[in-house]
Amino acid sequence: MSTETDSDADDESTSKCGASTSDTASDSSGSKCGASSTSTETSSADSGSKCGGSSSSGDDSSSKCGSSGSSSDSSSGKCGASSGSDDSNEKEVGATVEDFDADPGQLTAVGLGPGQPEGMTERAKNALLEAEHIVGYTTYIELLPDEITEDADEIYDTPMCGEVSRTEEAIDRTLAGNDVAIVGSGDPNVYALAGLALEILESKGATASMVDFEVVPGVPAAQSCAARLGAPLVNDTVSISLSDHLVPMPEIESRLHAAAKESFTITIYNPWSRKRRENFEKACEILLTHRDEETPVGIVHGAGREDEQVMITELGELEELGEHEIIDMTTTIVVGTEDTYVWDDRMVRPRGYETKYDY
Ligand SMILES: C[S@@+](CC[C@H](N)C(=O)[O-])C[C@H]1O[C@@H](n2cnc3c(N)ncnc32)[C@H](O)[C@@H]1O
Repeated sequence: MSTETDSDADDESTSKCGASTSDTASDSSGSKCGASSTSTETSSADSGSKCGGSSSSGDDSSSKCGSSGSSSDSSSGKCGASSGSDDSNEKEVGATVEDFDADPGQLTAVGLGPGQPEGMTERAKNALLEAEHIVGYTTYIELLPDEITEDADEIYDTPMCGEVSRTEEAIDRTLAGNDVAIVGSGDPNVYALAGLALEILESKGATASMVDFEVVPGVPAAQSCAARLGAPLVNDTVSISLSDHLVPMPEIESRLHAAAKESFTITIYNPWSRKRRENFEKACEILLTHRDEETPVGIVHGAGREDEQVMITELGELEELGEHEIIDMTTTIVVGTEDTYVWDDRMVRPRGYETKYDY
């Protein structure tokens, strides 16, 4: 069974915090919590990028990171962000807009799509090429093509924790005058960081206009996975995440009941982790109270990635697959409706054409 090492934002902050900081031009001994702040310059002394630098540092950097009150140690892994807390459960915003005296840069939330470079939109690639700093979860940074990572002045990534501190880091770097892209899988509006970025901007006393905040959409997992399965989403659909990290389980259960009793195809995100097997079991139980055991279910693990796996099964078989390696935190499950059928290994959800046309 795969572990949650590839988990996404929803579960990151319940994971062990592994952030640290390193610089390709210096050592990583100051690493904390797994965050890595990598300057793509050849020498930290000559670097055009600084992290957490005060405006009086004397560094002739063209790239600034963090507020004037933050650490000038580039290996501290913090760029004026979030009260200096390295654990991922931090709730307080650190620097506010008052702490920055630079003209803010631009902040762009970029959706990478499912994973491989060919799944990224042209607009996403261009937004990343234009950004001076790229901030993201390590797994997604590793999926970026070299031409993008080599072009950036600085890359800041955290492995398994701190979506809040990472987003704040991106905002602080922007308020310090850098053009910053914050990246995530799929689309920034689907269980992702676009909303958090706006909320943190607001809590810092900044505005979206001040940093010219923009969202560059990407292909969400629901669509990438549906494409692998055939045509399961061509009528009304809903998405439900089984992660109870940010939404209490009773609410998730209520949403499952509401969706399952109507004719929605249901796309299940964050279906399984070792910490919450019961959520998956409960979801299967709820789905079966409203839908037949034979209802087609598509399972896609790692769509567009090297370890992609696809399976079409029936709802009655789903629960036992919870312990199968195909279902983990990089899996999306598509639960069909009463009229969804399987034809030649493809899930098909009729759109209704057959009721109007002869073919
Ligand atoms: C926090 S959500 C992020 C969703 C993402 N923003 C999107 O638009 O798809 C993480 C969940 O997305 C789904 N997911 C992300 N990438 C996937 C992939 N390549 N294949 C299948 N599911 C994926 C999984 O359900 C995973 O648990």
